[in-house]
Amino acid sequence: MDVRAEFGKFYDVKADALVVTVYEGEKADDGALKELDERTSGLISELLGSDEMRGKQRDMIYVYRPANLRADRLLLVGAGKREEFSLDSVRKVVGSAARFLRGKGVRSMAVLRRSQLEIGKSAQAAVEGVLLGLFEPDMYKTEDKEERRIDELILVAAQPGVEDALAHGVERGRIIGEAVNFARELSNEPSSTLTPSELAARSKETAARFGLDIDVLDEARMKELGMGALLGVARGSDEPAKLIVLRYTADEADTNVIAIVGKGITFDSGGISIKPAEGMEKMKYDMSGAAATLAAMRAIAQLKPRVNVIGVMPTTENMPSGRAYKPGDVLRAMSGKTIEVVNTDAEGRLILADAITYARKLGATRIIDLATLTGAVSIALGAVNVGMLGNDQKFVDEIREAAREVGERFWQLPLDDDYREMIKSDIADIKNSGGRIAGTITAAHFLREFAEETPWVHLDIAGTAWENDRKPFMAKGPTGIAIRTVVNYVCNHAAKNK
Ligand code: BES
Ligand code: MN
Ligand code: ZN
Repeated sequence: MDVRAEFGKFYDVKADALVVTVYEGEKADDGALKELDERTSGLISELLGSDEMRGKQRDMIYVYRPANLRADRLLLVGAGKREEFSLDSVRKVVGSAARFLRGKGVRSMAVLRRSQLEIGKSAQAAVEGVLLGLFEPDMYKTEDKEERRIDELILVAAQPGVEDALAHGVERGRIIGEAVNFARELSNEPSSTLTPSELAARSKETAARFGLDIDVLDEARMKELGMGALLGVARGSDEPAKLIVLRYTADEADTNVIAIVGKGITFDSGGISIKPAEGMEKMKYDMSGAAATLAAMRAIAQLKPRVNVIGVMPTTENMPSGRAYKPGDVLRAMSGKTIEVVNTDAEGRLILADAITYARKLGATRIIDLATLTGAVSIALGAVNVGMLGNDQKFVDEIREAAREVGERFWQLPLDDDYREMIKSDIADIKNSGGRIAGTITAAHFLREFAEETPWVHLDIAGTAWENDRKPFMAKGPTGIAIRTVVNYVCNHAAKNK
């Protein structure tokens, strides 16, 4: 998609469609709306005074061949309350408009800037909104596949003089939007094609294309390193496990390293503690944490913040077989801790345990892990908030702020020591499940044992990485949640440490 800016009068913009936002309760009495009203012989004031258009988010009016406009179509979109209008509103409103207009065969779409939001950030949000909005999870359809494309986005502003900020925002929006969609494609892909080896191959392609260092550890190397937890999970699968490590180096001399660690279970059958058949097909997305890690690393490689970052992606299938690990088995993790397996379906924390230890060995001074870790997080927070826990309140607060800035919702759950009791084992140092009660918290406690003293934040994305309901601004399916937050955090952190 081409993105360009145009300065001047909106009615002179040539495009298949012109999008104009309308706030709640707004009248056509000044600025662009007044001009638009005059050009359309009072159509706008008539619409705004009626129930046709109340300016609520999701309200839309579509006019074909509006007289006195150079654009072939006019789309009025409700933008909600003016005082609540935010970058997130830009993303949603522009995303909804893009999805709607694509359905009308529109190929070039112009959006009139009406808010006072900082122009670079608002351009970034508009580009992200269109890219995220147009994603369709229909890669395997041969019929009814969405073939229509919007190939031009025109950002229309009345005043010139901000070209640099705008170009910069457009570029960031493109980098981030494309990275998120890249992760969504990976999450959507069946486990028969997206195996751990294939994820490693895609990571190598990504590393080569964007200039990241990469190291892929095979099972022999994991064995040398003593990664008994990761290898325990991998035992039941005929697909060899991989530990993928990506490295972005901004400054050789800087000893600070942020590690992003992502759960990469390409299929979670539950193993011997097998899952019910109903809904099991969705467990192909149990590698969404790894996909988010790869996508974030890709965006970071392009945005070039001044901070060192590594991405660590442990990846394997979780399968039952005659060789699979079993309830009652005791695994020895790379850190030396012994783990009693009480449920083979609590596999994510096992592979993350060794990945976190390895990240620390590679010099991580801060760790963010992303994982579709527990069903319990959906019970607690639904599909709305990411569950967030950590061992360093300042770090948690920074991630929360980074999420807020990009319009993703994260909610902290408590990590009191009392919950730690629930994963005590009679036979080993720790057990891999504390049962159903407080499942998200006990899972985080398990990970905490491996993060040890390193500042660490855990993001449980099991409830938010897949959207079951179609939204006007978003297809249903994989969401690419948390990537924008992590990238924003890394960039904020780099800016602060300058
Ligand atoms: N991958 C699942 C978590 C999950 C569940 C993700 C539903 C998305 C939707 C994870 O490996 C798992 O099976 N967790 C168990 C843990 C339990 C056995 C302690 C769970 O949540 O039931
Ligand atoms: Mn599981
Ligand atoms: Zn899992």
